[in-house]
Amino acid sequence: MKLKGKVALVTGASRGIGRASAIALAREGATIAAIARTQKDLDEVCRTIEAAGGKATSFSADVTKSSEVAAAIRDAIAKHGRIDILVNNAGIGGYRPFLDWSEDDYDRIMATNMKSTWLFCKEVIPHMLKQNGGNIINVASVAGLQGYANEAIYSASKFAQVGLTQALDREYWQKNIKVSAICPGGVETFFALGDGRTEGSDHMKGFSTAEDVAEAVVLAALPRDRSRIVAVVMRPMNEQT
Ligand SMILES: NC(=O)c1ccc[n+]([C@@H]2O[C@H](COP(=O)([O-])OP(=O)(O)OC[C@H]3O[C@@H](n4cnc5c(N)ncnc54)[C@H](OP(=O)(O)O)[C@@H]3O)[C@@H](O)[C@H]2O)c1
Repeated sequence: MKLKGKVALVTGASRGIGRASAIALAREGATIAAIARTQKDLDEVCRTIEAAGGKATSFSADVTKSSEVAAAIRDAIAKHGRIDILVNNAGIGGYRPFLDWSEDDYDRIMATNMKSTWLFCKEVIPHMLKQNGGNIINVASVAGLQGYANEAIYSASKFAQVGLTQALDREYWQKNIKVSAICPGGVETFFALGDGRTEGSDHMKGFSTAEDVAEAVVLAALPRDRSRIVAVVMRPMNEQT
């Protein structure tokens, strides 16, 4: 129970990597503030955590809307008193030729993946400064380290998220705020099917699990006096680097 007494806010906690991360952080003793739009899925995650002896509360919010982000953070702090770990995980993707993407698609992907990360960091960092530290863990992607065909806007949004991560690390490490990027390759979630990163073919069979990525999130969040995890790059066993 290395995270006992800590409060972790996880975005996109209703399914996939966010759900697995919330459960894994709770298993280490963290109290979870779970954020997404789908209340019934958030309820299921909180019930699962509580059935295992953990503590979790959900705060429904659209992470692209500044007023909803601010309200969720205010409510989470009112309920749990602090935020020690922020996991910016909510995200969307898509798999289409470059010329098929519309302006709406661009705005939606950038807002969900990048603007939300910025909004949460902007709201939570002042609290972490008052608390003399914290962990910010941004679930980016290998598509934030290398561009992929048919994923141009998604890749651009993830490069932006990695850039933000690196800049915040350099700005805040001396204030004991540790900022990490987790960059998974293919992960077997809703996201990776159809509307997501792949066409949902047999290729998915060897993908990483959401639980694999959650282990990297926990690794980045574990307290250590003399180190910080800046980035973790992961690849499923059916994908080359
Ligand atoms: N799966 C992969 O292959 C893969 C690989 C590398 C990186 N990633 C990254 O991992 C992260 C999580 O993806 P996943 O695979 O777990 O996908 P997922 O199963 O589709 O889950 C996405 C989560 O984001 C939430 N979300 C989406 N839009 C939102 C919004 N506007 N407001 C609030 N919540 C929103 C969804 O909740 P609601 O719909 O309930 O709001 C859901 O909980 C993403 O950032 C993705 O880029 C995934």
